[in-house]
Amino acid sequence: MTKGGSAETAKGDSAELGRDGVWAAPGRVNIIGEHTDYNGGYMLPIALPHTVSCAVTRRADETVRVSSRQQDGGWVAAPIDGLDDASITGWARYPLGVVREFQRRGYRLPGVDLALDGNVPAGAGLSSSAAVECAVAVALRDLFAPGIGDDELVDIAHTAENDYVGVPSGILDQSASIHCTAGHALFLDANTGAREQVPFDLAASELALLVVDTNAPHQLVGGEYAERRTQCERAAAELGVKLLREITDPSAVDRLSDPVLRRRARHVVTENARVLEVVQLLSAGSDPRLIGPTLSAAHASLRDDFEVSTEELDTAVEIACATGAYGARMVGGGFGGSIIALVDAAAVAGIAANIDDGFLRHAFAPPRSFVAIASAGAQRIG
Ligand code: GLA
Repeated sequence: MTKGGSAETAKGDSAELGRDGVWAAPGRVNIIGEHTDYNGGYMLPIALPHTVSCAVTRRADETVRVSSRQQDGGWVAAPIDGLDDASITGWARYPLGVVREFQRRGYRLPGVDLALDGNVPAGAGLSSSAAVECAVAVALRDLFAPGIGDDELVDIAHTAENDYVGVPSGILDQSASIHCTAGHALFLDANTGAREQVPFDLAASELALLVVDTNAPHQLVGGEYAERRTQCERAAAELGVKLLREITDPSAVDRLSDPVLRRRARHVVTENARVLEVVQLLSAGSDPRLIGPTLSAAHASLRDDFEVSTEELDTAVEIACATGAYGARMVGGGFGGSIIALVDAAAVAGIAANIDDGFLRHAFAPPRSFVAIASAGAQRIG
């Protein structure tokens, strides 16, 4: 592998970028259903308007190069059949892992330049990594392997993240990035693969989904996420099921002798029930305000039973709920990242300002807020 020098920066030959097309894939927030995916459970993400784009130019040789406007250092290049090289490190493993996964599955690709750019906040628990993987995956599929269906595309991006990057994540992020559609939340069943588009138009009810990135570092490669997965697997084995999703009665987890495993399992079992409750309300066309208490209950469960929240996340949720939100919760894997709060559209600025003030009082880093609108999944944009 070589790193491009100054003569070979992504910006330097921008006239050449994307001759064969440009694709974009979004980040996500999950309305509800956290740490359920690897337990075979339910989720309900929306795609964000924030995306990562991938501009593709076919090369005459057998080299694959990737660049990112969000990373210094120009191009990272490797022979297309040499992607197992352990010296490929850092951010480049996300896009190159996808290229390698196409190859591993027998899809032949020519040499390509993949120029990435994007505005999904990184390290905010909003799936900037999945957006990179899915932008590359959808571009390579459309250009070189059009027979691949969307389900396999999710699998390619997810396998690249698990096997090549080494993050033992579930299918939530890549599924959201590929399958979400504008104006809908995506109801997903990780066990059967079934999915349903659920109308999600908060503006029609004069509501908004406020996202607050706490700006506290979020890193899934660390051991905590993997430890939660292992604990869930142990709990399932002790309860005599393959996946915790098979348990629907919360009192069944009382049979677990270890209090930690009991708490972890209780979160998963109650979280699956909360997803079904929210989906039922939204599908019935009820006032979306009614899902607020369920969002807050999910936060309490992630904080107390799954123990993946942080002081910053808890503070943001508390302030939002104390100053007018109908419900709020941390999103994503936890240990930092963002919260969502369901608020009146007219109250967005006030509640965001209250959270800013609270963070200042606590001497936390300043948070960043925006309103999330259910947006489109991965697609060609140029
Ligand atoms: C991260 C992982 C997902 C999922 C969430 C928690 O975002 O990448 O697979 O497990 O955490 O719901």
